[in-house]
Amino acid sequence: MSFLTPDVRAKEEPAADIAPGARLIPRITIQAFCENSQTAQLVESAIHDRRMSKVALTTHNGGIDGAVETYKSNPTPNLIIVETVLSPGEIPKALERLAEVCDASTRVVVLGHANDVVLYRELIRSGISEYIVLPATAQQIVTAITELFASENAAPIGRTVGFVSAKGGAGGSTVAHNVCWAIATVLRQDSVILDMDLPFGTAGLNFNQDPPHGLADAITANQKVDQTMLDRLMSKAASHINLLTAPVTLDRTFDFEEREFESVIEMCQNTMPVVVLDIPHAWNAWVRQTLATIDEVVIVAEPDLANLRNAKNLADTVKALRPTESAPCLVLNQVGMPRRPEISPGEFAQSVECQLLGQIPFDAALFGTAANNGQMIAEVAANNKINEVYRAIGMHVTGRNAAHIGGKSSSLMKLPSFLKKRA
Ligand SMILES: Nc1ncnc2c1ncn2[C@@H]1O[C@H](COP(=O)(O)OP(=O)(O)OP(=O)(O)O)[C@@H](O)[C@H]1O
Ligand SMILES: [Mg+2]
Repeated sequence: MSFLTPDVRAKEEPAADIAPGARLIPRITIQAFCENSQTAQLVESAIHDRRMSKVALTTHNGGIDGAVETYKSNPTPNLIIVETVLSPGEIPKALERLAEVCDASTRVVVLGHANDVVLYRELIRSGISEYIVLPATAQQIVTAITELFASENAAPIGRTVGFVSAKGGAGGSTVAHNVCWAIATVLRQDSVILDMDLPFGTAGLNFNQDPPHGLADAITANQKVDQTMLDRLMSKAASHINLLTAPVTLDRTFDFEEREFESVIEMCQNTMPVVVLDIPHAWNAWVRQTLATIDEVVIVAEPDLANLRNAKNLADTVKALRPTESAPCLVLNQVGMPRRPEISPGEFAQSVECQLLGQIPFDAALFGTAANNGQMIAEVAANNKINEVYRAIGMHVTGRNAAHIGGKSSSLMKLPSFLKKRA
């Protein structure tokens, strides 16, 4: 794979004239695989459109074959644009090979040279998001992307994943932050961590950040909060990781209404591919409402009896609150603490009736060092096996198959929407 442009935004040019009210495309990652250099230039020129100002776009050589080779060993972005010079009869077959290496949530736009209505219908029917006939304008490409990701009826781009401890101090926050780090590193997609533990949260400490504003300002601004304000309140903690920190002040109490976090979460979801919620160990209306409405719930527990009882209560309640949504999952943390009698992970998961996504060993020195330095485990100990556990949890909660990244096998379960519909 050769990069024509590592990041075309580097040569920033004035944005094209777009109506001021035009909707911005969320912070998605787009990778384009072109056959001709003119097409690559065309795609690159799209980034200068104001609607694309948050998008990360790279262009590569090689068309469909190049994309297939790349994604055999790399995660797929939010959107793949592929140029093809194949004849209409050959295109669907070639795209099937691409489907086999794509993650389910990835969208595909095809740039083709054949103006063929039958082909267009077949591709759309099979789940390709758009087929654009070349020569096309950059405007046409941006409009197609806007339709997909920023139109009124487009599904929100962000996946909301909440971590909650079964018992105070079990490690929900530590798992949330490290899993977010793993997702950002592996998928290279933008994420935001909402530290919902407003009086005591540790996201700022753990990422060595001390921003003056964050989540509380967004919540208290209530109706007035918009995308621009939210961008201002977020602080960048690392590559692809943004924070909405907790104020960590006891000057006031934080007694929110049931749905007070809703609009901020929705706004995050409209712009960030990954939204991680660090939920405090508490039980009030807004915690329950949050657990009922997000995409994935992860319960973090230590392998003792009180954690088991609480995890079971939490899991049962969350399942009852959202019977048609995904069931909560379980992570066991601080496993193998010296001299502590523990419940075995298998037995624990069986009693709680949750899928066990991973177990993280107790390691006082490692976690103590990371916490004191304001660093993630991957920064303190890059080769530690714990990072693989965080990665596996991250891939699961973002709907990826862990085996899929770096050694994909193709089973129908993993096919993206554009082939599943046919299967
Ligand atoms: N696997 C581990 N081994 C050793 N120490 C750990 C481990 N995981 C977390 N810790 C430490 O345990 C403490 C509590 O972790 P954390 O703040 O993530 O828990 P929490 O459940 O979010 O707490 P709270 O209930 O306050 O929200 C921290 O000091 C953290 O560094
Ligand atoms: Mg916490």
